[in-house]
Amino acid sequence: MLVYFVTDEPAKLPAIRAMLEPQHAVVPWVLDSDGTGVRAHGVLMVDVDLRQMPRADQLKLILQELAAISERLFVVPNHARSMVAQAYALGATAVISRAKEAALKIAQIEYAEAAKEKNATDPAMEMDAGVAAFASMFSNVRHGRPLKIADARRATSQIVKRVGQDGLSTWLDEVRRYHEGTFQHCLLVTGVAVAFGLDVGFSSADVSRLGMAATLHDIGKARIPLSILDKPGRLDPDEDEIIRRHPVIGYELLKGVSDVSPEILDGVRHHHEYLDGSGYPDGLKGSQISDLVRLLTISDIFAALVESRAYKTPMPRSAAYEILCGMEGKLEGALVRAFRKVALG
Ligand SMILES: [Fe+2]
Ligand SMILES: [Fe+2]
Repeated sequence: MLVYFVTDEPAKLPAIRAMLEPQHAVVPWVLDSDGTGVRAHGVLMVDVDLRQMPRADQLKLILQELAAISERLFVVPNHARSMVAQAYALGATAVISRAKEAALKIAQIEYAEAAKEKNATDPAMEMDAGVAAFASMFSNVRHGRPLKIADARRATSQIVKRVGQDGLSTWLDEVRRYHEGTFQHCLLVTGVAVAFGLDVGFSSADVSRLGMAATLHDIGKARIPLSILDKPGRLDPDEDEIIRRHPVIGYELLKGVSDVSPEILDGVRHHHEYLDGSGYPDGLKGSQISDLVRLLTISDIFAALVESRAYKTPMPRSAAYEILCGMEGKLEGALVRAFRKVALG
């Protein structure tokens, strides 16, 4: 397999070659130098100090050149959380904490690709592909590229399958362990919404619709600066105003896309509306808010409370459920009660 190795430190190259060759062909690309002409297939491995902004900017240009390569492996020492978030924002599909782990990861990618070709159905491998599809969707939108609805569909169907097979708790634990920021949030919301839909006895078509709405609900955040999205603590009023634009941004991104149903558009635009009219962006009230949106909003708030962030420990699920119970008037009480079993596991 071709491995494009992008680095800011030429001294790292011999060790990478020693590890990966001759099994793989390593094509080096050192920041500040001219790149390579072959840019069609293979794996991209990025080992660059992302804390240094000029390097991150150079890297963005190289990544544009290598946009056709879908597998993007980033080395982030010790999985430093803010850097992991940045890696995903730059388009990573996987993050490893040491370059040494690359051989195993690349072998997994190679195996997954071979399996994909053979239409294999190993759930763990399919799930990796689902998460990768999700990552690529977010990164496309962040970089102004077209959103591929097939990526969202693929990610959603894998999450539906996985939550249906292994339950919500396993999903929550795994996502919180391996993923960061908005990316983590969307995976959690989808898992929670799917578990909720399955628990209340939705048909499989309705579970898929709810899952798709959840997968896409915060897609507008891909257009919000990371400095605001990943800011620890409270946002100031200007930042808050910017972040509150994300439902409309998401709606605008999706409204012309074929295959996006009105229910999904409704979920994307209205998941921050409350029954008492105090939500945004349209200040909808009571019956103006559909059932799908009501379920999505409950899943969204719950997932946000239990997510794991660099600056906060995840809230226990029971405490998060108590908060939902205290939102009488904003959320539908009967639905919150129906959510109890899902919330408490
Ligand atoms: Fe949102
Ligand atoms: Fe959300």
